[in-house]
Amino acid sequence: MGVKFFEDEKLFKLDTPLSTYAISIVYEEKLIAHTYYGKRIGWSGLNYLLGGDNNQTMKLASFREKGSVLDRLPMEYPTSGLGDFRESGVEIYAPYADTENSATDGNSGNRSVNPSANSGNYGFMPSYISHKIYRGKPKLLGLPATFAGEGDCETLEIECEDTLLNINLTLVYNVFNNLDVITRHVKIKNNSQKSVYLKKVMSACADLPNNNFEMLRLSGSWARERSISRVPIGCGHTGASSLRGESSHQSHPFFALVSRGASQDTGEVYGFHLVYSGNFSAMAELTQFDRVRAVIGINPYNFSWELAPSGEFTSPEAVLTYSSEGLGKMTRTLHDLYRNHLVRGKYKNAKRPVLINNWEGTYFNFNTEKLLDIARESAKLGIEMLVLDDGWFGKRGDDNSSLGDWFVNTEKLPQGLNYLVSEINKLGMKFGIWMEPEMVSPNSDLYRAHPDWAFQIPGRAPTLSRNQMVLDLSRRDVIEYVYGCISSVLKSANIEYLKWDMNRPLTDVFSGITKNQGEIYHRYMLGVYELQERLITDFPNLLLENCSGGGGRFDPGMLHYGPQFWCSDDTDAIERLKIQEGTALIYPLSTIGAHVSDCPNHIVGRVTPFETRGIVALAGTFGYELDVTKLSESDKAEIPKQIEAYHKYNELVRGGDYYRVASYSENKMYDCYMCVAKDKSEALVTFVNVLARPGGGKVRIKLKGLDENSMYQDVNSTQAYSGAALMYGGLDADCGWGDFKAQLIHIKAV
Ligand code: GLA
Repeated sequence: MGVKFFEDEKLFKLDTPLSTYAISIVYEEKLIAHTYYGKRIGWSGLNYLLGGDNNQTMKLASFREKGSVLDRLPMEYPTSGLGDFRESGVEIYAPYADTENSATDGNSGNRSVNPSANSGNYGFMPSYISHKIYRGKPKLLGLPATFAGEGDCETLEIECEDTLLNINLTLVYNVFNNLDVITRHVKIKNNSQKSVYLKKVMSACADLPNNNFEMLRLSGSWARERSISRVPIGCGHTGASSLRGESSHQSHPFFALVSRGASQDTGEVYGFHLVYSGNFSAMAELTQFDRVRAVIGINPYNFSWELAPSGEFTSPEAVLTYSSEGLGKMTRTLHDLYRNHLVRGKYKNAKRPVLINNWEGTYFNFNTEKLLDIARESAKLGIEMLVLDDGWFGKRGDDNSSLGDWFVNTEKLPQGLNYLVSEINKLGMKFGIWMEPEMVSPNSDLYRAHPDWAFQIPGRAPTLSRNQMVLDLSRRDVIEYVYGCISSVLKSANIEYLKWDMNRPLTDVFSGITKNQGEIYHRYMLGVYELQERLITDFPNLLLENCSGGGGRFDPGMLHYGPQFWCSDDTDAIERLKIQEGTALIYPLSTIGAHVSDCPNHIVGRVTPFETRGIVALAGTFGYELDVTKLSESDKAEIPKQIEAYHKYNELVRGGDYYRVASYSENKMYDCYMCVAKDKSEALVTFVNVLARPGGGKVRIKLKGLDENSMYQDVNSTQAYSGAALMYGGLDADCGWGDFKAQLIHIKAV
């Protein structure tokens, strides 16, 4: 396991338990080539896989067709404009040559061109100069990233240099010992005397032989987040991207290249995931030589980062994972990675309080008495925390005003927050609150005082969305103001949870105090990350749930700060089957905000059994999103039973291995998934039959992940089965009578 350098072969070999990644230094120019990524190989003679480019000594410059070589060579971090016409990893614009540096790039062989006349070009060709290998994993300054101790991971840094521009590029690889994961990022340092502009900086690139690949993406819309789709990779580009200033509802900073027909349990899967929450680009290009080049990183749209002399830029981190055992293996790898090496804080491995959020119950229409009524009733039923959502501040009676005015709305809460919270605490319940710190309403005291703090282009009417604007978090004064607001709200009462919302994309991105507008999208994200880092440092006991109009910024970046994310505004149990399936494909259930809400459902108007809503919400953080005082007695009577189930199963749900058994999105009939204890001693099977069918009383489901030699007993009966029988023969799940019927099957090894 770990990283090895084979001097003779000039080859780096990065091994995880079941995968190998190989990188070679080729040609006299010492370019960094991508040699192999796939199933584990215990042998270092892999350079032959480079075909004609298996060459360490020849001078690239001596090729009559140097361009063809550059356009064919599989690269670790490709540049463009010098012969490689495929998707690039990096583009650097040097407006002026560094006249103090009179070197050539060493392979031009042509010193008749005066380098000082070399102004205004994009040429960049980094060559290997050195490398280091060490245990552990460094932090990425100002950026979210996975973390690992010295025993968990080895790091390889390959140092390259473009001697003409005097720019250094460091390719960083972190190789996990116990997970089939390699994380990557790059650092670019300007050692010249003049500024250069980074126009494109991808976090990772992989250049793979095409294996009849399909691209699996997670795309959607508001209330339809992360729906799984697959398309064959054709010639040219296939990808996913966001220009919304957030990872977005519509797209997701993830894709997997999967061999055609790969299933949950079979086939090759290469997963690429970006630990970033802003504009991203994730592209695969099928090239003329039947190779697929995949890149992932910050979207180059409106990106132009000035790298001043001595300046260094660090890209976000990309997560790469390989599975030769289908999608399920990728899922479980990512779940373990994110649970153990991304999410932090007090709630990392802890059960979350069962909460009730008043949003769908009251929307903006509440006051102290109403909230206390809900709290009293909730406390009796076993609910542990009340979360006060939108509308408690400024003069907010609807969504047309007051964002930015983070002081208590005294019309609704005349005795203030502290009174409300202490009354709720007296009931034995915790209290949480909603804020949308990144936003400002044009109708707010904040906007009237500081219109220049909101993004808008001088002379142009700004594009409002939900009648609100986005604060310019690239500015220090705005960051300080926003942090002051958040911390004074949190200090004003015993607030133990914060729902941090973000309800619109970025538009009109213009900052009044900088000359370089091409940095603002990224600086905005750095501002958000800084705010959240300060927040969790100053309030270590706070449970932070991020949200963005539901799941519009549910990404690994945000999970580094808050251990959970509100998955979707669509709380309908049947819609949630699809949304949670797509989300759980790459995120652990412990991060998925899921609540039982009222019917008819506020988004789709569907009526589903209360029991089913509870069962579906158990595959997440669990809570309620309704006015409990208005529930029928029979629904109310279900709540203590659901909460009991939550306490009983949450350990298994949070910490177990997730197996997708059947998909309602695919079969259009029923959904089935399992959480299996790591030691295979127990499992919880969730089965939801969507529409009842005549004669369809039972469905045989083949369980997964069990120990085939153990005997398992259904906890609710005396019947025992062998693990092998349950997996290869299956189990009959009862479809029930009526639509939308769900059941839990809990089995334990005996
Ligand atoms: C977003 C969130 C909801 C709720 C509302 C409040 O839509 O996703 O859960 O907080 O904002 O305005």
